[in-house]
Amino acid sequence: MTALDAVSIITAKRDGGELSDAQIHWVVDGFTRGTVADEQMSALAMAIVWRGMTRREIAAWTAAMIDSGQRMDLTGLPRPTVDKHSTGGVGDKITLPLAPVVAACGATVPQLSGRGLGHTGGTLDKLESIPGWRADVPVSRMRDILADPRLGAVVCAAGADLAPADRRLYALRDVTGTVESIPLIASSIMSKKIAEGTAALLLDVKVGSGAFMKTLDEARELATAMVELGTDAGVRTVALLTAMDTPLGRTAGNAMEVAESVEVLAGGGPADVVELTLTLAREMVALAGLDTDPADVLADGRAMDRWRAMVRAQGGDPEAALPAAKHTETVLATTDGVLSRLDAYGVGIAAWRLGAGRARQGDPVQLGAGVVMHAKPGDAVTAGQPLLTMHTDTPEAFAGAAAALDDAVTIAPTTAEPIPLILGRVGC
Ligand code: URA
Repeated sequence: MTALDAVSIITAKRDGGELSDAQIHWVVDGFTRGTVADEQMSALAMAIVWRGMTRREIAAWTAAMIDSGQRMDLTGLPRPTVDKHSTGGVGDKITLPLAPVVAACGATVPQLSGRGLGHTGGTLDKLESIPGWRADVPVSRMRDILADPRLGAVVCAAGADLAPADRRLYALRDVTGTVESIPLIASSIMSKKIAEGTAALLLDVKVGSGAFMKTLDEARELATAMVELGTDAGVRTVALLTAMDTPLGRTAGNAMEVAESVEVLAGGGPADVVELTLTLAREMVALAGLDTDPADVLADGRAMDRWRAMVRAQGGDPEAALPAAKHTETVLATTDGVLSRLDAYGVGIAAWRLGAGRARQGDPVQLGAGVVMHAKPGDAVTAGQPLLTMHTDTPEAFAGAAAALDDAVTIAPTTAEPIPLILGRVGC
């Protein structure tokens, strides 16, 4: 075999070539060990953004990222494992009510989650607003929680040895404009999910202004790539394509999204959050081979009991008051009419500018910051009524956040057709 080197791999992809399995393994392994430099991996990532990858290349890239670390072993647990992954959106707090609902239906939910970056929120940041709650759970404790019939679900950070190549590559992509690539996103997500060892996986692929994928065609292509990777690795995988032009629910911000999730578990909450939670839960329960109706465990309080037990198992106090921001400012409707557009990206940027999100990995977030939405698309509004309330500890952030919200709102004379929440499905 001829010797491999980073420059010829970069130029091969730059010129539209197909990389061999050996080249892919060599470059991912070298990058993980530090012998392929960050600038070389950045150049290769940019070449992949422009030239794409074949199905075989994506599979080899994913396998190389899995091989960069350890696989978790979730075999031998008493109930079937099923996980959910969302490609990320604004106000997407669905994991919080979903994990206890699915666990209460009899499945085991190993939910390795991430932190927010840019305009999209992160499940771990949201849960960390619960006093005492800890995202770091050692693998042995994770197994104990999953095996416990009163718990059966854990939402925690992935260990450092789970697909470490992805951790390094994701940080690099984030600062080199190379996040938006279907092969790179699919392999990033699926390397972590396959290494985690779940038997079944539901993917929630977001489509719209607040998502990575802006069109249904792109989202379907990403969903298909991920379902193929999962299925080829022996993980029963289904993807739903769901709308992300408007934020989910009525809040975008860490503590306020926890409060909204608890409302859902208590039998209330916004209709779109309830609908998406139950739709995803039904898919997960079916993937796990069970037949309990998730609506029943939500209605009779079993999901809420599970939530409280899960929060306590990770050190949190489910009854404690959640953090609130020190300052608020409200945006009013400028005219009478119907709210015809509330743009997810604009609301996400506003929440981020208020301090709910981070600009760089490792930055702190403000747990109480965010945006409360008093009206959603389709609602009639009158001039002067409160539309959106901004919350922050840093009032100098109001001007930038208000500018993002200004561009995010349209009030029209008449109602527009509502966009359905569920836009498509890929997989078995
Ligand atoms: N989430 C991931 O884990 N990776 C990506 O590349 C994009 C979203």
